[in-house]
Amino acid sequence: MTPVTIAVPKGRVLKPLAALLARAGLPADVLLADDRALIRSVGSKNVRFLLLKPDDVPTYVEYGAADLGVCGRDVLVERESELYQPVDLGIGKCRMVVAGPVGSEEPRDLPRVATKYPRMAAAHFARRGVQAEIVYVSGSVELAPITGLSDLIVDLVETGSTLVRNGLAEREIVAKISSVLVANRASYKLRRQEIALLVERLREAVETSAA
Ligand code: PRP
Repeated sequence: MTPVTIAVPKGRVLKPLAALLARAGLPADVLLADDRALIRSVGSKNVRFLLLKPDDVPTYVEYGAADLGVCGRDVLVERESELYQPVDLGIGKCRMVVAGPVGSEEPRDLPRVATKYPRMAAAHFARRGVQAEIVYVSGSVELAPITGLSDLIVDLVETGSTLVRNGLAEREIVAKISSVLVANRASYKLRRQEIALLVERLREAVETSAA
């Protein structure tokens, strides 16, 4: 029988995710192995994980190449994804903020804003009635105001150390973010027993961790 396939993001969420999955009865140490393999199987549970760039997780789930996925709300909101999201996993907690150079004044009219999240950034400034010029960059966003590319950034902050280290400070919160479980709608119907059971266990594991 084909394993249940779960798309997961490479990076800092893997450790808390492996711990959460273990509490849900799915031993997921394979996620922590120092290995270049992009498919990691848990044969005893008929499950396999696909290790992906975070932005690609919804694509694999939408097209059914994965039955389930784990991704940040930021990715889903930015893509206006309508994927089914049965559980907020309560891990990968961070916030999306507007930040600018420490001690800088209010930016001029039509501030230029660098971000990996052009839709969310544009919507935030539109809600506040501020016209902003949004410039897309794909990473190391904090460099933009330091080098004069932009006045401000919209980016994710977890510990805050990247902002501090690069002379930037938070100005406003755009959204609170966490990782959610997403599901392919067809898989959810066709493999309901296996998938619903896993979803239920994950929900319980999240509730126990929160208690
Ligand atoms: C993310 C985010 C910030 C940083 C925030 O970047 O875009 O740069 O983490 O984390 P902190 O508040 O704990 O310092 P990531 O490490 O994913 O790399 P990137 O710049 O290539 O997107």
